[in-house]
Amino acid sequence: MARMTGMNESRKLHVKSFGCQMNVYDSHRMADTLAPQGFIETTRPEDADLIILNTCHIREKAAEKVYSEIGRMRLLKQAAARDGRRMMIAVAGCVAQAEGEEILRRAPVVDIVVGSQNYHRLPELLARAKRDGRAFDTEFPIENKFDHLSSPSREATRARGVSAFVTVQEGCDKFCTFCVVPYTRGAEISRAVGNIVTEVERLADAGVREVTLIGQNVNAYHGEGPDGQPWTLGRLLAHIARTPGIVRLRYTTSHPCDVDDSLIAAHRDLEALMPQLHLPVQSGSDRILAAMNRRHTRADYLRAIERLRTARSDIAFTSDFIIGFPGETEDDFRASVSLVDEVGYTGAFSFKYSPRPGTPGAEMADQIPEAVKSERLQRLQEVIDRHRDAFNRNCVGRRFTILFEKPGRLPGQLVGRSPYLQPVQTMAPVASIGQIAEVLVNEAGSNSLFGALIPASIDRKESLLTATGA
Ligand code: SAH
Ligand code: SF4
Ligand code: F3S
Repeated sequence: MARMTGMNESRKLHVKSFGCQMNVYDSHRMADTLAPQGFIETTRPEDADLIILNTCHIREKAAEKVYSEIGRMRLLKQAAARDGRRMMIAVAGCVAQAEGEEILRRAPVVDIVVGSQNYHRLPELLARAKRDGRAFDTEFPIENKFDHLSSPSREATRARGVSAFVTVQEGCDKFCTFCVVPYTRGAEISRAVGNIVTEVERLADAGVREVTLIGQNVNAYHGEGPDGQPWTLGRLLAHIARTPGIVRLRYTTSHPCDVDDSLIAAHRDLEALMPQLHLPVQSGSDRILAAMNRRHTRADYLRAIERLRTARSDIAFTSDFIIGFPGETEDDFRASVSLVDEVGYTGAFSFKYSPRPGTPGAEMADQIPEAVKSERLQRLQEVIDRHRDAFNRNCVGRRFTILFEKPGRLPGQLVGRSPYLQPVQTMAPVASIGQIAEVLVNEAGSNSLFGALIPASIDRKESLLTATGA
């Protein structure tokens, strides 16, 4: 039915992501789903016929951005109307899911509100908004959106680069007391192995070399395998590692409780699985971990780290910390600092606790004053930065395999990623984009490394990887 709305005329689409990697992935899939309707992506919102704001609800600041962005889009919509064009504005993502009706009430300029499980219905919602003025859908549908979303075209995949995300698991049943995700993304579901493999093969066919499997709780993956049995993430990784063309695998974000034997075996056995793991801990204090309902202790976490290190000695860890969760004392905070020292993270995000409506944490007594949160955040950040800088400095003189992604800062330079996700700037021919080569690191900044290409490593590594990957 949406076909009647002029699918042959080309229309312009601007999608803006505000959230996590899954939010970015969803933005791509929305664009892919609208492409058969004649929508072509533009980076210029003022030219668009449809603007989608893909929002994030994780912290108050992120959620506030939505309304200021809607304000800016209102001006563009008015300008378009003066030119006789109807510009449509859609709000998608986790804020839409959590407070869609409020958005419609507060922002009359918004035409469509679409929740995180309903993107496959966008063409229908667009037709409905054209007909009725506005459209709204934040139901958690019975059908699985992954069975209905369109795949990206080869051209769209190429334009997005040599490294791609693939959602394998979505939603969360863990209910950490600070977190909105179980409410905005719903109950945990895993995509079937066959469905994921088809997507990975298509990506590889279009030139993608690195795939990051994503999920809010990616290592709780339990999708149905070709044998009808639930497969673990470790088994899925081993299977995908055989895809010709895919030379690097990563996965994020993991929960410490779901680090199982098959995942540890994957780190031991799979050359394509990069030796870098983001394993959020949130706090180093057992008292706070319990109040957060994280379901593990500091010792459990350290045990998981130890097992992974035994399986893969060069593995590096990054993490997330929340500062100033209700009841956090100076001693609790120091336990987080000492955990950073004990694990020696190569990087970590730290966030001031942000009380989220509807979560248990927001109702807890003993909320921490803003000034205390800020002061602790700064202290933790300094320790994290010190470890990151030391790690980067230690990389000087080492040889890394780099996947070249795009032109670098200076003419003649390419930028690629090390196994540890550090951007590495190297003089290299443009034809090396999408290839793996060895680079000798000769300088370290705080956010990137600089290196020299090892001559002849490109072809050798390529054929080697193709041989082992086939
Ligand atoms: N599923 C992942 C993380 C999802 S959210 C996990 O289980 O770890 C990403 C990060 O945002 C979290 O790791 C946490 O550090 C941070 N975060 C989530 N809710 C928050 C809140 N209310 N205030 C501050 N930071 C928060
Ligand atoms: Fe949020 Fe916890 Fe689920 Fe992660 S595990 S998404 S932090 S509820
Ligand atoms: Fe934000 Fe939703 Fe991702 S709240 S972090 S966009 S799951």
